[in-house]
Amino acid sequence: MLTLSKRIAQIGDSPTLKINATARALKAAGKPVIHLGGGEPTYPAPQATVEAIIKKAQSRQIKYTPFSGTMELKQAVLHYTQRYYGRTFEPKNVLISAGAKQALFNFLMAVVEPGDEVVFPAPYWVSYPEMVKLAGGTPVIVRPTKGLQVTFEQMQNAVTPKTKIILLNSPCNPSGQIYSEDFVRRLVSLAEEKQIFLGMDDIYHQLVFDGAQTPNPCTYAKEGKNLVLLNGVSKLYGLTGLRIGWAVSGNTDLIAAMGKIQGQSTSCNSDLSECGAAAALEGNQDCIQDLCRVLKENRNILLEELSQIPFIRVEKPQGTFYSFVDFSHYNTDSNALAAYLLEKALVAVVPGAAFGAEGYLRISFCADKNAIIEGVRRIRWALDETAPNEIKIGDKIVTRN
Ligand SMILES: Cc1ncc(COP(=O)(O)O)c(C=O)c1O
Repeated sequence: MLTLSKRIAQIGDSPTLKINATARALKAAGKPVIHLGGGEPTYPAPQATVEAIIKKAQSRQIKYTPFSGTMELKQAVLHYTQRYYGRTFEPKNVLISAGAKQALFNFLMAVVEPGDEVVFPAPYWVSYPEMVKLAGGTPVIVRPTKGLQVTFEQMQNAVTPKTKIILLNSPCNPSGQIYSEDFVRRLVSLAEEKQIFLGMDDIYHQLVFDGAQTPNPCTYAKEGKNLVLLNGVSKLYGLTGLRIGWAVSGNTDLIAAMGKIQGQSTSCNSDLSECGAAAALEGNQDCIQDLCRVLKENRNILLEELSQIPFIRVEKPQGTFYSFVDFSHYNTDSNALAAYLLEKALVAVVPGAAFGAEGYLRISFCADKNAIIEGVRRIRWALDETAPNEIKIGDKIVTRN
């Protein structure tokens, strides 16, 4: 029988990838779409990456690499880990994967048994619940009682004897908020005491503003056998298309198990991509400062523009390139609201429901400044009855009513 697995029936499509596809299709059809829904920085690839890939391609040696990553890239990741976490690991502590996403997936597949619980706070990255289900586990979502962050006590209360993993993404996609030093310290201790894996999704850990710092879990980990650092080159260097990420852990059995899964699924990573990622990590790091400066300017422009829209609630993002804004005054159904804004105003944003928080919209500020200004201007026009009824979208004058 040509039936599909039960596994696939349980999981949904990625809403962010869907929005990207719709926005791309509208653009291709000639519509003046503004895309504030993306999770992809627009800045160009580091020059060192481009040169390394060209050099590698010109060698005409583009082959399979070791299943867990090339030694050159592992060493670059180890230098990165030493630089930013102050911990010295060895190559056997590192697995290179096709993005942080595959590193996380390998992690879940390596430890989750049917019925195991994986605890994480809302709002969460859209893929967490689906990836946990794919691995056979049960997502346990901890929801804030106020604002965009949960308390440590809420996390602690969510832990049961079935809890296998706690996941934390901070700064958080979609909220842009950073969990406090105290929260991270207590979470590290809790996970150690209960012998639960703690997966730190640190993909945005350096994209922070106003002198903020992302607490370093390694400062508090005693042995670190349960701690897994997940990261990659996608966001920091604008290299989403390389598909390179990694996991680092003091637990070499875990890293070996994750490598086994990778070896039997993708075999290994792209040879060209591994070269390019190593060059980004070992090259000039000024691009990170430059990026944070541009993102901070973009964030400030976004906040300024959003302040013109009445009845919304915004918490200033401390990092990432996302703001998560409460639009429930206009519509508590965020899917309907995002669809309306795309149709009426040709602005793509992501519904909060996808991140486990109804009534919110995620608005990215990794687009260029003019797109941010124009996009928010259109959102205001579409929602706020006190805004002028007419607006120019592309070369057409359109009316709201
Ligand atoms: C929180 C979070 N984790 C992981 C990823 C995956 O990144 P990568 O491109 O390295 O797979 C993303 C990408 O959007 C993300 O937002």
